Amino acid sequence: MSRTGFLLRFLKNPKQIGSVTPSSRWLCRRLLTYADLAHAKCVVEFGPGTACLTQMILDRLSLSASLVAFEVNYEFVHDLRKKIPHSGLLVVHDSAEKLEKYLKAYGHSGADYIFSGLPFTTLPPRIRVRILRAANRALKNGGKFIAYQYSLYLLRLLRVIFGDVRVVFEPRNIPPAFCFICSKRITRKKRKVKR
Ligand SMILES: C[S@@+](CC[C@H](N)C(=O)[O-])C[C@H]1O[C@@H](n2cnc3c(N)ncnc32)[C@H](O)[C@@H]1O
Repeated sequence: MSRTGFLLRFLKNPKQIGSVTPSSRWLCRRLLTYADLAHAKCVVEFGPGTACLTQMILDRLSLSASLVAFEVNYEFVHDLRKKIPHSGLLVVHDSAEKLEKYLKAYGHSGADYIFSGLPFTTLPPRIRVRILRAANRALKNGGKFIAYQYSLYLLRLLRVIFGDVRVVFEPRNIPPAFCFICSKRITRKKRKVKR
């Protein structure tokens, strides 16, 4: 998709799209360096938009793996289904917060990696928290939530929800972006102590 086409979609719905340009290949490559996709069984993407990252994820997955992509903008959903008729790709036209419901319906016990291009800073705070909590719950042990943002605003909330968060800067994207690599927070079940 052209930059002008993307800009027009942004102008129609700025809070939902959250960016005036699609992600660069530099940014997508940077995000992918933190995932071992060849050994993943289930990968999730939030807000694939023009599918630059989607295609690069699919190129690295094994034949038996699935990519479940959540996108709320119907124009992007329509383009994605037409542009990438890949048997491992499931495009869900629904919000990222419904992730667990869809993973269960598709027979996945959890995700190895969740990539996000969501504009968290322009999403309503309640939705933002719900999406991040659902992502942490849906990750398998050892799984990672990998997101980019144009500021460090989200970092505090990410640390509250995931605990362990690594931050990396990618200056070659327009605008320059921060990548957040978050490890699943493992909560131990409390044992009942008999007295
Ligand atoms: C910054 S754009 C992603 C751009 C993408 N990386 C690209 O290069 O085209 C953010 C995307 O998130 C989608 N989005 C916003 N809120 C969403 C939600 N709650 N669930 C799923 N997708 C959402 C928007 O429709 C948009 O396509």
